[in-house]
Amino acid sequence: MMTMTDQQLADFERDGLATVDSPFTTAQISAASEAFDRLLSPPPYPSSQPLKYRTGTSDFTDPALIDLVQHPFLEEVAKQVLRCDQIKMFRPPSLKQTYPDPNRPFEFSLHTDARLSSSDLRATPRRMPCNLLIWISDVTPQTAPLMVRPGSHRQIAEAIGSHPAYLPLMNNKTGQPTQIEDYVNIKNAHSAPTVVGWFEDQLPDLKYHDPVPLTAHAGQVTVWTQAVVHGASTNTSNISRKVIFNDFQPQGVEIGVTRDTSGKRRRHLSRLASLMRPERCHLIEL
Ligand SMILES: [Fe+2]
Repeated sequence: MMTMTDQQLADFERDGLATVDSPFTTAQISAASEAFDRLLSPPPYPSSQPLKYRTGTSDFTDPALIDLVQHPFLEEVAKQVLRCDQIKMFRPPSLKQTYPDPNRPFEFSLHTDARLSSSDLRATPRRMPCNLLIWISDVTPQTAPLMVRPGSHRQIAEAIGSHPAYLPLMNNKTGQPTQIEDYVNIKNAHSAPTVVGWFEDQLPDLKYHDPVPLTAHAGQVTVWTQAVVHGASTNTSNISRKVIFNDFQPQGVEIGVTRDTSGKRRRHLSRLASLMRPERCHLIEL
């Protein structure tokens, strides 16, 4: 099943992201949207932190959602951009809903969640995870679009050379120095790409593309690398923005994985495997 055109693959190559039409039907997307409404409710308003008026979960069993996240279309797109024959989920799919916040001015933040070298990007299979966003609602410049600097992953890759540090000295989530012991499968900061936050002041000072809003229609899928400089924005509309995050990686390529101290990741993936059709379970490795 070929799913991306040569032009879309070239867009991904250049920009680090491409939005493609999917085989998902309007009925499938509506059923998923109803599942979001059942599962998620808005946090107390106003949010103490701007850009955080949102909720999310990986804790779902609704057939409407399982149907989407196990769909072969996602697997084929991920295989095309990662240039490989076999992939697996890097972590459980998660739902994210950003609620209307029309009384706030439009704002956005910028960061990356991965750092890749030019050789990671050139490799076959590519030495990287990729993320697929299934848009459950339309995304306009007003409905909390992801803000992105197209091509910034390549600029950073060129700037950091062939032996990069994949981990920042300071962990942005904890505010503490990065601990290698937090990872199960890497020995030092240079071992393997991983998914970890880098703030703007930790990025090379380069002339990046101005941030642009990533817009899409409900039912489309955006495939991208979180090594692109990106960030959340305010939902200044009156409509919730709904999206499902799906992370994949090539089989046999080492990607740094953090210790799952709570067992959550494993719990969600094993339950998902129990709900998926048997012929789709190769996507999950426990
Ligand atoms: Fe991010």
